[in-house]
Amino acid sequence: MPATASRLAIFQESVIREMTRLANRHQAINLAQGFPDFDPPAALIAALEQSARGAFHQYSITWGSARFRQALAAKINRFTRLAIDPDKHLVTTCGSTEAMMVAMMTACNPGDKVIVFSPFYENYAADAILSGAEPIYVSLRPPGFGFDPGDLRRAFRQNPKALVLCNPSNPCGKVFTREELLFILALAQEHDAFVITDEVYEHIVYAPAEHIPFATLPGAWERTLSCGSLSKTYSITGWRLGYVAAPMEIIAQARKVHDFLTVGAAAPLQEAAATALEFPDTYYADLLAEYSRKRDIFLGYLRQTGLPFTTPQGAYYTLVDISSLGFASDRIAAEELTRRIGVTGVPGSSFFREPVHRYIRFHFAKKDETLHAAGERLASKLRA
Ligand SMILES: Cc1ncc(COP(=O)(O)O)c(C=O)c1O
Repeated sequence: MPATASRLAIFQESVIREMTRLANRHQAINLAQGFPDFDPPAALIAALEQSARGAFHQYSITWGSARFRQALAAKINRFTRLAIDPDKHLVTTCGSTEAMMVAMMTACNPGDKVIVFSPFYENYAADAILSGAEPIYVSLRPPGFGFDPGDLRRAFRQNPKALVLCNPSNPCGKVFTREELLFILALAQEHDAFVITDEVYEHIVYAPAEHIPFATLPGAWERTLSCGSLSKTYSITGWRLGYVAAPMEIIAQARKVHDFLTVGAAAPLQEAAATALEFPDTYYADLLAEYSRKRDIFLGYLRQTGLPFTTPQGAYYTLVDISSLGFASDRIAAEELTRRIGVTGVPGSSFFREPVHRYIRFHFAKKDETLHAAGERLASKLRA
């Protein structure tokens, strides 16, 4: 048998998806893979039924249906000071997952370096490697997960082609301050690098933290590829809808990458999802109120365990420090918690470049009853 491509040996299969399979095998509550177990808004399901009966069963425009892009541009412009033109500044993708891959392949040549903050969402290193680029890492330091300005400056001295910014951040829940973002921008300008953002949790930010879209910073637009998604905001991770927003010259190239990767996102789903993009502001306030409540419920149970954990400023993940429990590794801890307690998280080491083996990541995008069931199991069986 011929050998498969050597670049694939550099990274592992997704640990998150592997933990989901483990949870399914043991019928454990899956707090590993970050997707809701509740329905999307009823209006969205109704729109999907309607679009199934419409004339949307063939390829759409490869970079996104006109209605979807118009609704998306209007929604982005409503929440930012940007003036996104649906015909020039957008490419619709199969989730932010494809958006990030498109952005990376658009920005980077083989051999280029890409700065990734660690801990990081596991796709970024794979995106860089599949693009032929080399990830270089800058630590976000617990407990606040800020970066050392000197570390970032040193990383930029290696002349990276791009920096990946996940804001709000998965897994650590950090929301970058204006000061931090301006510091990143100044270095990106000085070294003429792109900034590729992943802002899928833009609407899940807990006060007093505030999400500042990177592209809205003065002078940032021309070097920013903003990746976003409908997955988390509208609880439709299975619809696979996302986008890259960027200046026209960049999007013209990104559309080519997207076309050859996937041709396009699913046409009936784009049509239906335009309804979500037209939801009023109250939808987003309600979404945040819901997640704030869920965060309080779940963290309340974690408090009872006596274990240290992170309180996210954004997104819906917490890192629980299990180092006092005596497991040989976080991997073994995650497997044992699945088997013995019936709650599955992700071994934190899969998010860190550094040898950090003290965390399990849990997410709380679940129905209240699921959170109570998982929380009770953890609170009664896990003790510091
Ligand atoms: C930071 C981050 N980016 C991207 C994704 C995937 O988004 P999508 O469903 O739009 O591909 C996730 C999913 O958990 C995520 O946490």
